[in-house]
Amino acid sequence: MVALVTIGQLVSFFGFMQTLHVPLGDRSYPIHIGAGLLSRPELILPQLAQKRVMIVTNTTVAPLYLAPLKAMLEAAGVTVAQVVLPDGEAYKTWETLNLIFDALLTERAERKTTLIALGGGVIGDMTGFAAASYQRGVPFIQIPTTLLSQVDSSVGGKTGINHPLGKNMIGAFYQPKVVLADTATLKTLPARELSAGLAEVIKYGLIWDAEFLAWLEANMDRLRALDPAAIAHAIYRSCEIKAQVVGQDEREGGIRAILNLGHTFGHAIETGMGYGNWLHGEAVGAGMVLAAQTSQRMGWISQGDVARTRALIRAAGLPDVAPDLGVDRYLEYMGHDKKVEGGKMRFVLLKRLGEAAITAEVPPEVLIAVLTAPR
Ligand code: NAD
Ligand code: GLY
Repeated sequence: MVALVTIGQLVSFFGFMQTLHVPLGDRSYPIHIGAGLLSRPELILPQLAQKRVMIVTNTTVAPLYLAPLKAMLEAAGVTVAQVVLPDGEAYKTWETLNLIFDALLTERAERKTTLIALGGGVIGDMTGFAAASYQRGVPFIQIPTTLLSQVDSSVGGKTGINHPLGKNMIGAFYQPKVVLADTATLKTLPARELSAGLAEVIKYGLIWDAEFLAWLEANMDRLRALDPAAIAHAIYRSCEIKAQVVGQDEREGGIRAILNLGHTFGHAIETGMGYGNWLHGEAVGAGMVLAAQTSQRMGWISQGDVARTRALIRAAGLPDVAPDLGVDRYLEYMGHDKKVEGGKMRFVLLKRLGEAAITAEVPPEVLIAVLTAPR
């Protein structure tokens, strides 16, 4: 651990940090990407409205990164409180959210106290929602420590919790002040979680950028081995695409929905299998295969395109075969999706590899054929 931080500090000393911006008017914010950012107070201090923060993290991430973050902030004169939540998607609930509110009230946190999310997407989504609601809104900062949260969940301001009947059904759009993606933290991430993050990286190639998709096909082994240059490029390009989409459509009135490729199927898998049994990224991986198969049955992409999609998902270490929940349960869970409009399911599909399309016109027989076909 000490060695990792030292290498990270060295890399950051030589200025190996990239920054891009999410363009949202007076709510625009920077995303900093690089190794060793947890030891750089100058990236956080200008964003604090008062020198008081509450770090929200969990029982897995706290022993790894809470002490160095806290020490860095305290050395810069910041008063730091903390709340350590139980770890897991199964805890992305009202009850756990309330633990954050309990801590904020116990510590008498004020309107200008900043919440800092230190962890993966579960911590980021819950902390953001707590920040959106505590005293009707306090500032927050995202320090994502999983690949998935560095390329997706920490950017764009979607926050929230799950309901037993539907994933991420309760929440708010609420943007952070800054995102610090410290790539050194990925070294402690289990391989299964790294693969889950790669699902969202592949998503950006499929929906937006055929060239990036081809780059991913050529570099998947380097990414799985955490090659620093490859990982930095994948995170940067993913955030760049997400920032571009969110900048056009912050509250998902239109184009932002393309970021949900594979998610309608994926959320049904997560809910149907029980939260936490399939990782979000795994469910999205298998869900993107179902979305590709649906696109092929719509006549938009070829069998070869489906095979290419499937091969990349497999190469990332993800399941390419969706579980057999039965058509009725798939349809029931997909019916709770946030993209349902006027009772009609809307799907994100592929017009071609590198271009997504949103449609409410998938004939039921196509959907049933996809869900019942041998996988
Ligand atoms: P996660 O937050 O559950 O983290 C995965 C696991 O890795 C956890 O056990 C966590 O404690 C552990 N962990 C985190 N950082 C680590 C590190 N550096 N070293 C070792 N272990 C570490 O899962 P996730 O994949 O990061 O996020 C999934 C969540 O994100 C889902 O709830 C999903 O709905 C949400 N999400 C939100 C958005 C959004 O736009 N807000 C987008 C995509 C996904
Ligand atoms: N992960 C989908 C979005 O942020 O819109």
